Amino acid sequence: MSDASPHEGLSTLLHEARTFAPSPEFAAQANGTAELYQQADADRLAFWAEQARTYLTWEKDFEEVLDWSQAPFAKWFVGGKLNACVNAVDRHVEAGHGDRVAFHFVGEPGDTQDITYAQMHQKVQRAANALSELGIGKGDTVTIYLPMIPEAVVAMLACARLGAPHTVVFGGFSSDALHSRIQDAGSKVVITADGGWRRGKPSALKPAVDGALAQGDTPVEHVLVVQRTEQDVDWSEGRDIWWHDALAAAADTHEPEFFDSEHPLFILYTSGTTGKPKGVLHTTGGYLLQNAYTTSVVHDLHPETDVYWCTADIGWVTGHSYIVYGPMTLGATQVMYEGTPDTPHQGRFWEIIQDKKVSILYTAPTAIRTFMKWGKEIPEKFDLSSLRLLGSVGEPINPEAWMWYREVIGGGRCPIIDTWWQTETGATMISPLPGVTATKPGSAMRAIPGITADVVDESGEPVGRDAGGYLVITAPWPAMLRGIWGDPERFKETYWSRFPGVYFAGDGAKFDEDGNVWVVGRVDDVMNVSGHRMSTSEIESALVSHPKVAEAAVVGANDATTGQAICAFVILREDAVEEADEVGEGAELVAELRNHVAKEIGAIAKPRQILIVSELPKTRSGKIMRRLLRDVAEKREIGDVTTLADSSVMDLITEGLRAGD
Ligand code: PRX
Repeated sequence: MSDASPHEGLSTLLHEARTFAPSPEFAAQANGTAELYQQADADRLAFWAEQARTYLTWEKDFEEVLDWSQAPFAKWFVGGKLNACVNAVDRHVEAGHGDRVAFHFVGEPGDTQDITYAQMHQKVQRAANALSELGIGKGDTVTIYLPMIPEAVVAMLACARLGAPHTVVFGGFSSDALHSRIQDAGSKVVITADGGWRRGKPSALKPAVDGALAQGDTPVEHVLVVQRTEQDVDWSEGRDIWWHDALAAAADTHEPEFFDSEHPLFILYTSGTTGKPKGVLHTTGGYLLQNAYTTSVVHDLHPETDVYWCTADIGWVTGHSYIVYGPMTLGATQVMYEGTPDTPHQGRFWEIIQDKKVSILYTAPTAIRTFMKWGKEIPEKFDLSSLRLLGSVGEPINPEAWMWYREVIGGGRCPIIDTWWQTETGATMISPLPGVTATKPGSAMRAIPGITADVVDESGEPVGRDAGGYLVITAPWPAMLRGIWGDPERFKETYWSRFPGVYFAGDGAKFDEDGNVWVVGRVDDVMNVSGHRMSTSEIESALVSHPKVAEAAVVGANDATTGQAICAFVILREDAVEEADEVGEGAELVAELRNHVAKEIGAIAKPRQILIVSELPKTRSGKIMRRLLRDVAEKREIGDVTTLADSSVMDLITEGLRAGD
C-alpha cells in the first residue's frame, strides 16, 4: 500500500446542494424501481435468485443461490447450468427477434454494417465450429487481440459457446505485454486482425502477435487473422489462418453444450500494485446475471426501442460487461464504433448519435472533459434529441463535467448514471437508479439493490456520514471475481486481508451528509489515466529494465483532461549520467525512455513527463514517498518531509528541476 491517504481530496466537506430528480415520465417507464431496494434488503439471496430466473435462461435450474463456505472463494447459483452465448444470441432468435439489429457497426473510414441477431447467430456458430476444428474445447483459453470490429464480439461469444475462457488483450498493449498474457493464460489459439483503422490510418496488430510468438515459450498452435485493413502481413504457414477462410470452411450449425454456473467465462488482465498484471477470473452465471440486471435497472435498457452505445473498447472490462454480456443478454440494439472521437472531425460521436438515433450513451469522464475542451459549439451542431439517458464510468466525474454532460449533451432532460465498479467487481455496484434517484453531480450515490457497500476507517470501522475512508463491499455479490488466474494467495492477500471479511476495493471514498457515496480515487499504487488502469510499479519495472536506468519512481499527477497523468522520476546509472552530461542528450534520453516503456507495456503507458533526478525521497525503511513526488509533479508546495531519511533530498530534486526548466 502506498503512502496516499484516503482523506486526500476530502479535506473540503461535501455539501452539494444541487439535486436532479428524474422526470415523472422517465420514472413511469423505468425498469429500476424503489421496491427493488426493499426486496433486496428483505432477503438478499432470494432477491438474487429471482433476478437470476428473470434475466437468464438456465438449461438446468440452480439448487443453491450462494455457497460462501470457502470464502473468499464464492459459488453462485450452485448446480445451475447455462450457456452465456445462448443467452446472448440464440434465445433472442428463438423468441422471434432474429431480425432485430444487434450492432450498427460504424468503421472509422465510414463503412457501416448492420448485423442482426440472426446473423450473429450464424457467425457465432461458424466461429465456434472453426475454433473446435483447431482443438479448442471446454476449459481451453483463447487470447483475443482485435480492434473494435464486430468480429471481436463474435470471437468472444464463440469462445463462451465452447466453454473456452477468452482473454482479451487491449490492442494498445505491446508485443511484450501480449506475450506475458498469452503465457500466463496458456492459450493455444490467438485471434487477431491485420489491423484496424485509427486516426485515418491502418494500425497494425498482427506484427505484435508475431513479435510475441517469436519470443517463444507459449503453447500457441494457431493464429486466426481477421482481414480488416487489407494491409500486407507476414504469414507463418501452418500456424496462421485467415478468419474468413476458417469460418467459410466450418459447419454452419453448432449445438451448444451447457456449463456449470461456476465455469470460467473469461480472464481479463488488469494492473495491480505489483509489476505483474493479474488475470482477473470471472465465471458464467453470476457474472452474466449481474450484467443483465444492471443493464436493465441501471442503464434502463428497453431492448425493443432503445439504441444503446457504450463507447468503451472491448479490451477493457467495460466492453466485456456493457457491450457484450449485459446488453446482448437483454437483446439490445447497439452502436459499435471502431475509431477515435476526432476522426475525421471532432463531432464524430454526435454525428453517430444523430444518424443512429442513439438513446442511451455510456462513456468516460475523460472523454467528456475532452469534448468540453473542444467546445459546446461542436455537439450543438447535431440533433441529439434521441438521447434519453447518459452514463459515466471509469473514474470520478467532476461536477463541472457532470453538469456539462447533462446540459450540453443531455439537453437538461436525461438522467445521468455515474456507475462505480471495477474489473474485479465485474458489473456496476454503486450507481443511481435513473428512474428513482435524485442525483448529485459528481456522486455515484448508493449501492444498487442487492449490493452492500460501506466506507471504513484504518481499523475497519464504518466512518458514518460526512466522513471519508476506504470503500469496501461487505457481502459477496454475483459478478465478483472468483480469483486471480493461477494465484489464489494473491487474491486473498490483495482484496480480503486489509479488512478481514470484507472486500477492499482499493478506492478512497466519502459518505456525504445524506449517506451518498463520493468515490475519490485509488489509495494504492494504481493510477487511472483516461479511465485506463495503470500500475506505478509496472511502469517502474519497465523503466528500470532499460540499461541506462538505475532507479525509477512513478506517480499519477492530476490532469485536467485525463484524470491522472503518468509522471516518472528516474535516476540514471553512473556511466549513463556521464554520457548524458558529455553529449547533452537529456531530451533524447527522455524520448528513448518513453519509447522503451511503450515497447515494454504499450503506448498507453508512456509517461507524460520523465524527470531525471539524482535522488528519490525515501523513508528510513527505504519506501519511496510518492506523496512528495506528486507534490513536485503537480507543482505544489512540498508537503511534510519529516519522515524522510534525508530531508535535503527534496531540495535537491526541486533545485535540479528548476535548473532543467
Ligand atoms: O478507482 C475506481 C475507478 O476505476 C477503478 C477500476 O478500474 P477498472 O478495473 O479498469 O474498471 C474501470 C471500469 C469499471 C476503480 O477502482 N472508477 C471506476 N468507475 C468509477 C471510478 N471512480 C469513480 N467513479 C466511478 N464511477
